[in-house]
Amino acid sequence: MTIPSLEIHLSEDMLTEALRHDARVGLTASPKWLPPKWFYDARGSELFEQITELPEYYPTRTERALLSAVAGEIAEAAAPEVLVELGSGSSEKTVLLLDAFVAHGELELYVPQDVSPSALETAAEQINERFPGVSVHGVVSDFTHTLHHLPRPKGKDGKRMIAFLGGTIGNLVPEERAEFLSSVRDVLDPGEFLLLGAGLVIDPAVLVPAYDDAAGVTAEFNRNVLRVLNSRLNADFDADAFRHVAVWDAQQEWIEMRLEASRNMRVEVRDLDLTVDFAAGEQMRTEISAKFRLSGLEGELAHAGFSVARHWTDPDDRFALVLAAAK
Ligand code: SAH
Ligand code: TRP
Repeated sequence: MTIPSLEIHLSEDMLTEALRHDARVGLTASPKWLPPKWFYDARGSELFEQITELPEYYPTRTERALLSAVAGEIAEAAAPEVLVELGSGSSEKTVLLLDAFVAHGELELYVPQDVSPSALETAAEQINERFPGVSVHGVVSDFTHTLHHLPRPKGKDGKRMIAFLGGTIGNLVPEERAEFLSSVRDVLDPGEFLLLGAGLVIDPAVLVPAYDDAAGVTAEFNRNVLRVLNSRLNADFDADAFRHVAVWDAQQEWIEMRLEASRNMRVEVRDLDLTVDFAAGEQMRTEISAKFRLSGLEGELAHAGFSVARHWTDPDDRFALVLAAAK
């Protein structure tokens, strides 16, 4: 049995350095904010997996059902030899794609990529065991920085696919999103594919509870970013004194996640020599989750140099899978 390899582009030291920078910028800004990639230490990745199983959190099960219905068509249309998945997390739904690609006969390499080494290790091992004929090569890196050169397929006509599932595209702000889509386009050759899973604009009465569940798992996930700051930067946030807030911004068409200080607080971030004051009721933005309209998404893809080959939506139009080809 071969062992899946793990390539680390982000060492613990580099992660801490990047977090120092982001924390300094975000905590001294007005209003304060933090970038979302810092949710995902081992505990954060585990909490996200719990979110995916919540009754209110429809995206995961909707995308899973969609993938299961159309994976054969995706395999038929794209038939990749190499599948690179960005922000792959547990790779749980990806198994449906891998099954279809293996059945179609071309797939030789799966490259899951994530900022969370713990999620990646578990996923790579499970995939490796389940698909003995496919090489698995995990990459720990940040997809908003450099997308490293992708491995080439062995066959000279072999194609690659980059998958970006789970609606994670919506966690990028519009400028980051445009930059991200262009850089994805740049690492592909003409005719190679991007498979994008994106949440669609739906009734806020369904949307908001998906980001503010009754059991409080999402709240715990949101507060986890403060625990990451405590452990990595020696800060002294009283995480439980922050309230989870999720609001639908109808103008921007995104859910905004915030942490609200329940009282006046002075926080010391010792490794940054930084003192941060929170006023009671002050809110700090921790993440957006943008929802899309198909026309808008296809416009953004076209702008980045893709042509949309196919798209699929679930029967309730809550989630879309878009297969785009690099022009
Ligand atoms: N694709 C999975 C996980 C989605 S959650 C699914 O559909 O269920 C978002 C994932 O992206 C997490 O695993 C998180 O660790 C990863 N992630 C978030 N920001 C990232 C970044 N900047 N670079 C790489 N991975 C990132
Ligand atoms: N990619 C997920 C999404 O936008 C991330 C996510 C789900 C999330 N629930 C959250 C991020 C709650 C912060 C808080 O659906």
